[in-house]
Amino acid sequence: MKDTFIEEYKTKLALSEFILSSNKLSMGIKCSEFEKEFSIYQGRKDSILFNSGGSANLALLQSLKNLGRLKNNSKVGFSALTWSTNVMPIIQLGMEPIALDCDPKTLNVMSKNIIDVIDNLNLDAIFLTNVLGFTGDLDKIKEICDARNIILIEDNCEALGSIVSGKKSGNYGLASTFSFFVAHHMSTIEGGMVTTDDNDLEEMLRMVRSNGWDRNLNSDQKFKIRKTHNILSEFDSKYSFYDLGYNLRPTEITGFLGLNQLKYLNENIKKRNSNHLVLNSVVVDNTDLQSINYDHQDFLSPFAFPVVCKSAEIKNFYFNQFSGAGVEIRPMIAGNIQFQPFYKKYSKYSTSCPGADFLTSNSFYCGNYPGLSTSDLEIIKNCLKKY
Ligand SMILES: Cc1ncc(COP(=O)(O)O)c(C=O)c1O
Repeated sequence: MKDTFIEEYKTKLALSEFILSSNKLSMGIKCSEFEKEFSIYQGRKDSILFNSGGSANLALLQSLKNLGRLKNNSKVGFSALTWSTNVMPIIQLGMEPIALDCDPKTLNVMSKNIIDVIDNLNLDAIFLTNVLGFTGDLDKIKEICDARNIILIEDNCEALGSIVSGKKSGNYGLASTFSFFVAHHMSTIEGGMVTTDDNDLEEMLRMVRSNGWDRNLNSDQKFKIRKTHNILSEFDSKYSFYDLGYNLRPTEITGFLGLNQLKYLNENIKKRNSNHLVLNSVVVDNTDLQSINYDHQDFLSPFAFPVVCKSAEIKNFYFNQFSGAGVEIRPMIAGNIQFQPFYKKYSKYSTSCPGADFLTSNSFYCGNYPGLSTSDLEIIKNCLKKY
């Protein structure tokens, strides 16, 4: 990623002016305005802004525990191919992570991967990652979870703007998380969001974000919680802490940048999608590589371009092609995360995930962002060609 923002110079200039003219830079009106605009964009009732996507994941799981919907030792299924801070809070909060396999054809957990695990291991929740903008068959997964009363939540940090069966990814679960770190679909430098339609969860997320106090709740919510806990004065309420929380607050800079960059989001996503089509046209003609199937999606909002090779030996060849051309590549997120040192240290369960294993050894990704020029795309296309 060459730039932090779309319209880098204009945005930095506007940010400088905003900082110079603002009396208050800690969380305030710009954060609330961005939350409202983001809810409209995503088509969700509420959005709660955080200082990172990882914080959004932690706060979401802590909130579900505070509400008693998840408990110590609850079993939480998650996509074997994911990011560290999707899984770590499951462990940090005393729950059991259970890896769900990902299909190499879609990069994602598919409905067919979950039924046996749900029924054999009695899962309480599933925290899916929508990988690199691709998704599983979320409508079918939701049906399975609903039928068994299992909480479904989505880590949509890599898939802002993707659409599946007529609905945006991130709108299938009870709540979903987003990241606005540089190189994601929109950047606030650091930043994250949780969206939900659930009033109790929204209220709890605002308390978890801010020390467990009620200062960021609306007046009805404050009245209710103070009455429940017999907090009689505004003075006492200042330092009343109702449930377990952290300081995961964003700043007004996050809110300002979110509002600013949201204006370019659709344009950004469109360019990423067209980059994908250009690069994928080479992959479909190359028998060494496997193109990712997203027939079940109405729209792909890519985060990066996955290069899936048919064997590890072939991967080495393409790895050298990219490295030799000076194109930065990354592992397929954290690979099958069960092999990461932290996971082996803390988790007692391991499940067989041959799909995620295949992707760990045979794939990598390169950047796909709106700033890629025609000549940048040509360089990547050449790296993808079979010689
Ligand atoms: C799937 C997924 N979840 C969570 C995160 C964490 O987001 P952040 O870097 O904003 O903490 C990332 C980061 O890239 C991610 O890819």
